[in-house]
Amino acid sequence: MAQKLIAPSVLAADFANLQRDIEMVNNSEADWFHIDIMDGVFVPNISFGMPVLEAIKRHAKKTIDVHLMIVDPDRYINTFAKLGADILTVHYEACTHLHRTLQAIKAQGMKAGVALNPHTNVSLLEDVINDIDLVCIMSVNPGFGGQSFIERTYKKVADLRDIIDRNRANTLIEIDGGVSTANADKLVAAGADVLVAGSFVFKSDTPEKTIQELRSLANS
Ligand code: DX5
Ligand code: ZN
Repeated sequence: MAQKLIAPSVLAADFANLQRDIEMVNNSEADWFHIDIMDGVFVPNISFGMPVLEAIKRHAKKTIDVHLMIVDPDRYINTFAKLGADILTVHYEACTHLHRTLQAIKAQGMKAGVALNPHTNVSLLEDVINDIDLVCIMSVNPGFGGQSFIERTYKKVADLRDIIDRNRANTLIEIDGGVSTANADKLVAAGADVLVAGSFVFKSDTPEKTIQELRSLANS
């Protein structure tokens, strides 16, 4: 079985000590950096943009997983490729021509991801599942860190796992929002591959140890 991956969400880092927090992730057992880009339109919050990602990229030594919570993401696919994104995830709810957007992301050499809001049924992805490298199931409403986990997520993960297996797709299932040691093992049991964790990691007194605990729980 492939290793289950942990992706700390930089949104919860201390931006006044960003380099320190990036080095912590570099030195930890974490697999990816999860980068949340919010535009204040698709979600009711603004996070950070290109100059900050450029600064993160200068220090980060692991896969850069960019989660775009923006309207009309097609406008910025080239920009994020140039900034060094390895995975570019767009929201299903923000794309009128999702299939075209996925091809455009892959044409720029990135892996293509699709994120689903809590109300969006996973069955809507069945006709494009073989074109998707990663599905990000939002287990909170996107826009803010530190919210509580929506329990319905387990059912969505199991349903998506079934769609992926039936279509013989290689799509990874990522969970984003409210992830902690209280739900990591159940999410993996339901079929998750990648766990994003913001507050649980960065608000911990021992973040490297917290990453290690999450990772070993996910792989137990
Ligand atoms: C929410 C973001 C998440 C967020 C998760 O809109 O997409 O990546 O940082 O934060 P926690 O783990 O604190 O729920
Ligand atoms: Zn995210």
